[in-house]
Amino acid sequence: MTDYEKSENNAHEILVVDDTRISLRLLTRILTNHGYLVRPASDGPLALKSVAVKTPDLILLDVKMPGMDGYEVCRHLKEDAHSREIPVIFISGLGDTSEKLKGFTVGGVDYITKPFAAEEVLARIGMHLHLRELNERLEEKVRERTERLSTANNLLKKEIVERKRMEKERRDSEARLRQHQKLESIGLLAGGVAHEINNPINGIMNYAQLIKDRLNPDNSLIEFADEIIIETDRVAAIVRNLLAFARYENNAQSSARISNIVESSLSLIQTVIRHDQILLETDVPDDLPWIRCRNQQIRQVLMNLMTNARDALNEKYPKYHENKKLKIFSHIFVKQGNKWIRTTVEDHGSGITPEVRDRMFDPFFSTKPRENGTGLGLSISYGIVKEHHGLLHVESEPGQYTQFHMDLPVLDG
Ligand SMILES: Nc1ncnc2c1ncn2[C@@H]1O[C@H](COP(=O)(O)OP(=O)(O)OP(=O)(O)O)[C@@H](O)[C@H]1O
Ligand SMILES: [Mg+2]
Repeated sequence: MTDYEKSENNAHEILVVDDTRISLRLLTRILTNHGYLVRPASDGPLALKSVAVKTPDLILLDVKMPGMDGYEVCRHLKEDAHSREIPVIFISGLGDTSEKLKGFTVGGVDYITKPFAAEEVLARIGMHLHLRELNERLEEKVRERTERLSTANNLLKKEIVERKRMEKERRDSEARLRQHQKLESIGLLAGGVAHEINNPINGIMNYAQLIKDRLNPDNSLIEFADEIIIETDRVAAIVRNLLAFARYENNAQSSARISNIVESSLSLIQTVIRHDQILLETDVPDDLPWIRCRNQQIRQVLMNLMTNARDALNEKYPKYHENKKLKIFSHIFVKQGNKWIRTTVEDHGSGITPEVRDRMFDPFFSTKPRENGTGLGLSISYGIVKEHHGLLHVESEPGQYTQFHMDLPVLDG
C-alpha cells in the first residue's frame, strides 16, 4: 500500500462507472487488491443515484457509455454542491487531445487512456486522493485562521469600545472638576462682592423709603421712589442668594430622612404647583436609610429643582395637560461599594438643549425673563450638593423630558 492510501479500517471508497462488464470487473479487482473499497455502477444514471446516497472519495468514469456519457455525468456531478468536490478521473479509449481537453473542461481532474497499466491507474488515483486530502487540510487551516482572526478582531473591537468609554469617563470627570473649581472661585468672589453691596443697598432702600414718606401722596415722584424700592429689593434678593451660594451660613449637619425633606419642600411649593394645574407624583419611601445633611440646604436644592421643573412645564403647557406632570422619586443604589440615595426630579417639559446644558450651572445664567430668574438656582444647588459629598447631574432630551438627579451618600453607607 502506498503512502497515499488509507489503512484497511478507513479505506478510501472509489466509485467505478463503466458499461463494459469486463472493464468494470478488472478495475474492481485492481483497486480491491490495493485496499480500496469499490462501488461499481454500470451506467451514468446509476452512478448519480449512488453518489446521491453516499459520496465516494473519488470517481473513475468511463467516457463512452450508451445513453448518458461520462462528460454528461461529470457535468451533473459538478452542478451539485454535494458532489462538486469529488475528484473525477476519466477513462477512455479515445486518447486524442481534444477529448482529453473536453474531460478537463467539464471538471475532470485527470484522463487515463485505455488500454491502461494497473500501476498507472493506481498511481494517479493515489496522487489525486492525496491532493484532495492536502486541499481539505488547507481549507481547514484557512478556516481556523479566519476564526482566530475574527476572534482577535472582536477582542479589538471590544477594547476600542472600552477605551472610548474610559476616555468619555475621564472627560466627564474633568468637566465636573473644572465646573467645581469654577464655582468655588466664583463663590468666593461673589461672597466678597455681596458683602460690599449689602450695606449700600440697604442705604438706598432706606433713602427711597424716606423720600416716599416725605412726598405728598398725590406727588407723581412717589412712583419713582416705588420703582427704586422694587429694584433694590431685587438686588437685595440676589445678594441674599449670593451669600447662600458662597455658603456663609454654616449650620451644623444632622441625620435626616430624605422622605421628610421632600415632604417639607413639597409643603412649601404645593400650592403653586396646584395653581398651575401640574400633576404631582411622588415615590419617596419612608424607610430609605438616613443621610447626614443640612436639612435647610437640601430643601433649598429640591425647591430650586422643582421650581425649574414647574417653569419648564408651564413653558410647554400653558394650561392643563395630562402630561403636565412633576415626578419626584428616590431609590438606593451602590457605587464603588458605598450606598447612595438618588432623588430624581423629573418633568416632561421643554427639555434642555446642549447649549443651555453647558452653561446652566454657571451663576447668573438664565434663559428666563428677568423677573422670573436670577440664574443662581442651579449653581447654588450644585455647590450645596457638592459640599454634602454628593453629585447633582442631569439627563435631558430637548422637547421631551428632564431629570435632575441628586445623589447623596448614605450615613455609614
Ligand atoms: N427642568 C428644566 N427644564 C428646562 N430647562 C431647565 C430646567 N432646569 C433648569 N433649566 C435651564 O437652566 C437655566 C438655569 O437654571 P437656574 O435654576 O440656575 O436659573 P433660573 O431658573 O433661570 O433662575 P433662578 O433659579 O435663579 O430663579 C434655566 O434658565 C433654564 O434655561
Ligand atoms: Mg431656577
